[in-house]
Amino acid sequence: MKSILVILIGLLCVSCNPNKKEIILNKKIVIAHRGASAYLPEHTLASKAMAHAMNVDFIEQDLVLSKDNIPIVIHDIYLDDVTDVAVKFSNRKRTDGRYYVIDFTFNELKTLQATERFDSKTGKQVYQNRFPIWKGNFKLHSLQEEIELVQSLNKSTHKNIGIYPEIKQPVFHKKEGKNLTEIVLKVLADYGYNTKKDNCILQCFDAEELERIRVELKSELFLVQLIENSEETNKLEYFATYADGLGPWYKQILDKKVNGKWQFTNLVAEAHKLGLKVHPYTFRADDLNDFLSFEEMMQTLLIDANVDGAFTDFPDLVVHFLENKY
Ligand code: G3P
Ligand code: CA
Repeated sequence: MKSILVILIGLLCVSCNPNKKEIILNKKIVIAHRGASAYLPEHTLASKAMAHAMNVDFIEQDLVLSKDNIPIVIHDIYLDDVTDVAVKFSNRKRTDGRYYVIDFTFNELKTLQATERFDSKTGKQVYQNRFPIWKGNFKLHSLQEEIELVQSLNKSTHKNIGIYPEIKQPVFHKKEGKNLTEIVLKVLADYGYNTKKDNCILQCFDAEELERIRVELKSELFLVQLIENSEETNKLEYFATYADGLGPWYKQILDKKVNGKWQFTNLVAEAHKLGLKVHPYTFRADDLNDFLSFEEMMQTLLIDANVDGAFTDFPDLVVHFLENKY
């Protein structure tokens, strides 16, 4: 009955607005965190294609600028824990011993082999049961290349899967004399992502920058404020002045377990009262922490805590779970 109601509401929205693609937010969404990163090295085009085939709603892109101002899809400002940069460019590390994306041109970055995440000090793979380190032939890529992959797959498979880019470390970029945000907004606009009706959600941990994106840069995109610290949970009213959603660490939603049942903080209820969607990170079946099983994690957060979506390394499992619930 509930699922029929959701479909009817969806059809109603489309019929009110026949010429406009509506962003899919009338159901709980699955966001492929760094792609299908449990199965292929994170942020490779292969992991994005796999996520697309798993019928997710959105595919995530973490973004950092190259020396020549190309937005690169990579989780950190560093290169040395997902590529062979230390072997290929051993003399290009900074005094802190790290290799920075921003010190390399796009052409130089393209010569690197991308691999499963590892500890750059020990060389040990972080998630032991995932895709084996240094196997395969993967490369870094730009935001433009990834958008072209997603949009082309949407065309060839008749799907409308969205993108979920993240502006990484805007303050670091500014100190380096670069404006990541404005470059990213231009690329998004070039590919047709301008408003909340377009299938793109823009996220950032830096509240000042996300507010600037709305107020100063006048972006009409759907904006999600990421949070990680407990003090930030007291700033929801401020976030709601410019953002459309909240991306908390999932532990900020959990309170404690009483007689085997999870109790929740008031974060989701308060965000919903303010009209904010809630998309917690990160659902990992091989890193359960507080939960006895992945099933328990999905049931607890997606259903009992009533969040609106999930960032996950295991998109197939979350898609399957939600398909069986609705
Ligand atoms: O952006 C949501 C989630 O990805 C935040 O964590 O560190 O994986 O970017 P991180
Ligand atoms: Ca991210």
